[in-house]
Amino acid sequence: MELFNVYPLYNVTPVKAEGAYVWDENNTKYLDLYGGHGVISIGHTHPAYVKSLSAQLSKIGFYSNSIQNPLQQELAQKLGKLSDCENYNLFLCNSGAEANENALKLASFETGKSRIVSFNNAFHGRTSAAVATTDNKNINAPINLQQQVTFLPLNNIELVIHELGKNDVAAVIIEGIQGVGGLDEGTTEFFKEVQQICNKKGVLLILDEIQSGYGRSGQFFAFQHHNIQPDIITIAKGMANGFPIGGVLILDTYEAKFGMLGTTFGGNHLACAAAISVLDIIEKENLIANVNEVFQYFLEEIKAISQVEKVKGKGLMLGVEFDFEVGELRKKLIFDKHIFTGGSNNKKLLRILPPLNINKEQIATFIAAFKDVLK
Ligand SMILES: Cc1ncc(COP(=O)(O)O)c(C=O)c1O
Repeated sequence: MELFNVYPLYNVTPVKAEGAYVWDENNTKYLDLYGGHGVISIGHTHPAYVKSLSAQLSKIGFYSNSIQNPLQQELAQKLGKLSDCENYNLFLCNSGAEANENALKLASFETGKSRIVSFNNAFHGRTSAAVATTDNKNINAPINLQQQVTFLPLNNIELVIHELGKNDVAAVIIEGIQGVGGLDEGTTEFFKEVQQICNKKGVLLILDEIQSGYGRSGQFFAFQHHNIQPDIITIAKGMANGFPIGGVLILDTYEAKFGMLGTTFGGNHLACAAAISVLDIIEKENLIANVNEVFQYFLEEIKAISQVEKVKGKGLMLGVEFDFEVGELRKKLIFDKHIFTGGSNNKKLLRILPPLNINKEQIATFIAAFKDVLK
């Protein structure tokens, strides 16, 4: 059997990893400023994380959601406390798309409506409703087109007010900071006005924090830069440092009913142990403070490079924009300098998504290499 060939691959084969580094089969060491697409939050193979997962696996790795699993409560409590979202309840699932799928379904259950407002260039995943709210026709199959979704430009509140005025919208879904789309984001004024109009019209506001959450933006959630309170928050990538897990945080004014949502694998023992360990490490190692410190250093250094047109994003969710396409630059960074970076829909944007415990020396290594390949 061969693999169903859907991924264009770089010819690199990582076989081990530690902190902000990965090594290939020839023992070549790479600096990881991509974090496996914003997934590696606490650094690769963090010893406390490895210990915690190994210990859990040797006790019990999985049982279904038909029994008591106190690890789920422990995770919910720690997450509520660290994210300052104690007035939310948690539903656990397995991926980002699944988190958004459940969030959209909840909004539809709650309102009895089915139209969704999303934004230009949004990415919310590849399952049925999630992909329909993703602004990319190439990944929507005919079966996905049955969903009713309206795409609006970011930061145009008049259009949001106009659409919600039609009284058929279940939810507005928006990324804290756009990831795949290229690091665009709503202004504080826009987020606040969207929240206000959603509250007024009984429409649920879903904040997709799958990439921008878990400290990556310099706050636990990116929406916390704007002082709003979404109805639903979705999480995944940084949550368990690569162990598959997703979550939906639902404001506690919304009531759960038995059977309303469900999953076989979601919230299993091993996934919870991984997610708890990540929260413990973020707290103990003060990683959000590190994000802000490294961000300031990165900004100072990168702005001094004349070819850089613009720096987008916040914290360690960054985009560096040029007036040329960055494909060749990324290849040079990987193959000549052994540094992983990311791309986006915006071909002129280089994405930087390192582990949250990356240090200034490692960023300095990147800056020096970057200046060299730009010569
Ligand atoms: C903002 C956002 N939402 C949803 C998803 C989908 O997550 P997953 O690939 O885990 O289904 C992604 C993945 O890149 C994302 O960046």
